[in-house]
Amino acid sequence: MPKTTISVIKADVGSFPGHSRTHPRLLERATEMLKEAEGDLLIDSFVTHCGDDLELIMTHTMGVDNRQIHELAWNTFMECTRIAKELKLYGAGQDMLFDAFSGNVKGLGPGCAEMEFDERKSDPVLVYLADKTEPGAWNFYLYKMFADPFNTPGLVIDPSMHEGFIFEVHDVMKKRQIFFNAPEEIYSLLAYIGAPSRYVVKHVWRREDKMVAASTSTQRLSLIAGKYVGKDDPVMIVRCQSGLPAVGEALEPFTTPLIVAGWMRGSHHGPMMPVSLADAHPTRFDGPPRVVCLGFQIADGKLIGPVDMFDDPGFDLVRSRCNEIADLLRAHGPFEPHRLSMDEMEYTTLPQVEEQLAERWEPIPE
Ligand code: F6R
Ligand code: MG
Ligand code: MG
Repeated sequence: MPKTTISVIKADVGSFPGHSRTHPRLLERATEMLKEAEGDLLIDSFVTHCGDDLELIMTHTMGVDNRQIHELAWNTFMECTRIAKELKLYGAGQDMLFDAFSGNVKGLGPGCAEMEFDERKSDPVLVYLADKTEPGAWNFYLYKMFADPFNTPGLVIDPSMHEGFIFEVHDVMKKRQIFFNAPEEIYSLLAYIGAPSRYVVKHVWRREDKMVAASTSTQRLSLIAGKYVGKDDPVMIVRCQSGLPAVGEALEPFTTPLIVAGWMRGSHHGPMMPVSLADAHPTRFDGPPRVVCLGFQIADGKLIGPVDMFDDPGFDLVRSRCNEIADLLRAHGPFEPHRLSMDEMEYTTLPQVEEQLAERWEPIPE
């Protein structure tokens, strides 16, 4: 059997009204285009959205960073941009930062998480899709899943997890990477990933056999475009069970109402709310930030599913705590810590306002 690759590639190519949700016509057209590629480039596909982000979930045997797969995603987004323009959807073509495809969607605007692996006897996979936040938002959840025994008892009681996991961390500002072994190096790991605007977990591997366990999208739109163009809204793939976190251990971290960056104008902190697909439409204050999780079994590359994992009253309490935190943060109005700190605001539209006022500043008299 050839190895199976899962590619999750996403872009915001326009939404309605404002930045709320992807239009059904885009979802239909993207579904059609990927279905046409099945049996040829793709084995299987599933198209969905989280908020204003169009999400392409694809399986194939071409490996990660494959030119043809990335081109298919790019062409799909281009075609959806065309429809978005016709419907005058908001932000049509927003994440398509360049006119031409150049071999890989990375660096062109769309976000991308991929992994290639030998299918196990049974391979449960969770695909997480977020809106109104940044890639580093996954750091906390990945740490809990793969390094925190209070979240994942398997780390303690399953001999095949006992050796721990390797975290590959990217510094998105300096474009460098580092690997940490958990559990021995968790303090060093946390020294970096506790700052999620800069340090982002890209992959997690099982130490015992270097098996890939998790993969995330790490593109920062503002760093590519050199200005604020909307939030990155990351995706993540996590494999589960049989020596990896159980499905439930990979969902449990989302019962903490984590405060993340990316709400309203990409400039505010807000609680990350786990929601079902039916609720994947940010409205309040263009948010709050949210995440959906789709569960699949992979069978010879076929996507068996999805199951809408946060469609469970078990997550009602965290949703209600998120709403309380949302009220508390909203009451701060334009004050920090609701608004991001000044160094993070550098990547928003605030510097343009500061420029307009620059001339008015004068020295304080002695
Ligand atoms: C977009 C987002 C929104 C927009 C806001 C202002 O992902 O988070 O909050 O930043 O609606 O958008 P513009 O500047 O396009 O009017
Ligand atoms: Mg948008
Ligand atoms: Mg979005």
